[in-house]
Amino acid sequence: MEYRIGRIMLSEEELHSKVRELGARIREDYRGKKVVFVCVLKGAVIFFSDLVREIGPDVDAQLDFLAISSYGASTRSSGVVKIQKDLSTDIHGKHVIIVEDILDTGLSLSYMSKLLRERAPESLEICVLLDKAERRTQHVDVKYTGFTIPDEFVIGYGLDYAGQFRHLPAVHIAEPLD
Ligand code: IMP
Ligand code: MG
Repeated sequence: MEYRIGRIMLSEEELHSKVRELGARIREDYRGKKVVFVCVLKGAVIFFSDLVREIGPDVDAQLDFLAISSYGASTRSSGVVKIQKDLSTDIHGKHVIIVEDILDTGLSLSYMSKLLRERAPESLEICVLLDKAERRTQHVDVKYTGFTIPDEFVIGYGLDYAGQFRHLPAVHIAEPLD
């Protein structure tokens, strides 16, 4: 299947004001604490870099990166989740926030939170920009959600289709070419 860049679902302005709002909530919740922010590569990279810059100096933040296997060239999960790049930080006894681009079936995030929980962090929370709630098959507890969106395949602001379109500054609907 080929896709083209369709209409904007979330504009740059909407994204930026939501990211500011999430950053402010996290700043209040973790004021004076040490937190490891975990960016799930590659999709969360744009959201993550905007979000952490909203946190400010009152949180003692460390940044780390995790990569798991993704869809490949498909818009549906293969059901296979595997670590491709692990954290370089020991999270034992630390406050951890996983930052992810989108929550779909919940498979990836339930796998990642189980994996990181086994390392006995002081606390573990999840922050997602987008939530396709109606697609959920695995329950995932998310503390910070940006937008709940309908079941459309979206691209841009870090989100890709087969590696393309991550660099677009807004979130667009991917339109199938026929
Ligand atoms: P889940 O494991 O089904 O929750 O899928 C989560 C992962 O699927 C995300 O981290 C994305 O990489 C990918 N994904 C799900 N929906 C979309 C979408 O609409 N656009 C781009 N990637 C998506
Ligand atoms: Mg992803």
